[in-house]
Amino acid sequence: MSILTLPTTPFAGQKPGTSGLRKKVSVFMQPGYLENFVQALFDGLEGCAGQTLVLGGDGRFHNRAAVQTVLRMAAAHGFGRVLVGRGGILSTPAASAVIRQHGAYGGVVLSASHNPGGPEGDFGIKYNIANGGPAPEKITDGIFARSQTISRYRTSDAPPVDIDRLGTQHLEQMAVEVIDPVADYAALMQQCFDFDAIRRLFAGGFRMRFDAMNAVGGPYAHAIVEGLLGAPAGTVVNGTPLEDFGHLHPDPNPVNAEDLIAHMSGPEAPDFGAATDGDADRNMIVGRGAGEAFAVAPSDSLALLAAHATLVPRYRGGIAGIARSMPTSTAADRVARALGIPCHETPTGWKFFGNLLDAGAVTLCGEESYGTGSEHVREKDGVWAVLFWLNILAATGQSVQQLVQAHWARFGRNVYSRHDYEGVDSAGADALMAALRAQLPALAGQLLDGRRVKLADDFAYTDPIDGSHSERQGVRILFEDGARIVFRLSGTGTEGATLRVYLEAIETDVGRHGVPAQQALAPLIDIAQRLARIEAHTGRTQPSVVT
Ligand code: G1P
Ligand code: ZN
Repeated sequence: MSILTLPTTPFAGQKPGTSGLRKKVSVFMQPGYLENFVQALFDGLEGCAGQTLVLGGDGRFHNRAAVQTVLRMAAAHGFGRVLVGRGGILSTPAASAVIRQHGAYGGVVLSASHNPGGPEGDFGIKYNIANGGPAPEKITDGIFARSQTISRYRTSDAPPVDIDRLGTQHLEQMAVEVIDPVADYAALMQQCFDFDAIRRLFAGGFRMRFDAMNAVGGPYAHAIVEGLLGAPAGTVVNGTPLEDFGHLHPDPNPVNAEDLIAHMSGPEAPDFGAATDGDADRNMIVGRGAGEAFAVAPSDSLALLAAHATLVPRYRGGIAGIARSMPTSTAADRVARALGIPCHETPTGWKFFGNLLDAGAVTLCGEESYGTGSEHVREKDGVWAVLFWLNILAATGQSVQQLVQAHWARFGRNVYSRHDYEGVDSAGADALMAALRAQLPALAGQLLDGRRVKLADDFAYTDPIDGSHSERQGVRILFEDGARIVFRLSGTGTEGATLRVYLEAIETDVGRHGVPAQQALAPLIDIAQRLARIEAHTGRTQPSVVT
């Protein structure tokens, strides 16, 4: 064991959010940078001696080296055992599942989620607690505070562990158990879903394209979809995690997953398309339309899963409630109303779902940003969402498009789009939000292009379980006809600021359900640009990404 000195500057340097610390690989490779974070983390973990830690990541560049660093430091801090995914691999939801299943003290997840990877890309680290969910703010604040003051770190001098060999090895006194990264997760999925029904679906010739985007979803999709469910070889594409994701941007949406969209278009398209992100917690669902791909809006996906939950063994007895982030469309609210269950509206970010899930207040939750999940783990879960869809497709015999259209016919369509203005000047973005906030008191009751404003506010949230309060979570303008415009600045971007504008309109006329979203939302887009004076504040006449 050694106690080594940390360089005085720079250090972890930035407050890690609950999604952890994300930085360029070059920053993480500075001597002592990762060590500083890990030391600050371990210093705050009381009673970790003799305990079990879970460790793994999404396989991006620097993953393997970081695994060895964390292992050496865990040994020097007296952890009893570390469960590490073979090859250093664990998807974020699988890490959550392993922590829960093994009653671990916590886990270290190495990932920068959907951010690009490779030597020029991003790396990240985060800590999850015993419930399998991201560490709450009081823990991450503590990590940050200590990272600013510590000057030394404790590590082992033992040689690297062979993380490609399953089974138990020792690093000093600590047991390192290299586990199959898929096994525990696959067992959990078999408890959730009707695998026999899905197997019969594939046996009957149903065709699927699962695009794992060269990221960590691949091993899970291979083992579960092609292995346990018997889908033909070749169903999973881009299924081997690559350190640079093969230069794909593993953030599935119709823009980044254009190859999947192309394959889901045309007469030869398979029945079902799906993609997952870098660490496999996000998902995209695509059906086959008339000659073109039929991409399911994540907000609709959440609502549809909730409406069909009792077709799935795990949720056969019904769901207790739904939670959605504030900018996510209100489609789920309509389902909740029909089911007579609560729908909670939380600020953006998965952490707000944790307390509700732990308390049993909600069963399903989701965000418009391609994240869906349930009480089975404490992270959003991409592969789980895909299996949920497969279960529904198998149980109903309907196509993705038929299911979605029937859902709209029953509940109305929440036409939805998000416009991102990426990499804008931070000062301009702040000024835009400040000017919007200043307008809010005068907006209620006003008529904007024939739509009456019902409520205009800056979203605030009080957690019903622990009473914690969060303010300034996004400006929302709600209209009397159910339409909404939401403005907020991204909390995850790494360059400049990103303005997100979320647009939603309710269409109950079935005859108009086929109108493309951008066309249906044009009047709201216009209101949003004028109200926020987007061009004046950002210099942009167009969003950079429309999903
Ligand atoms: C984005 C998404 C948000 C998600 C977060 C982490 O955050 O919008 O829903 O929880 O990534 O995956 P944002 O950049 O908008 O702050
Ligand atoms: Zn992710």
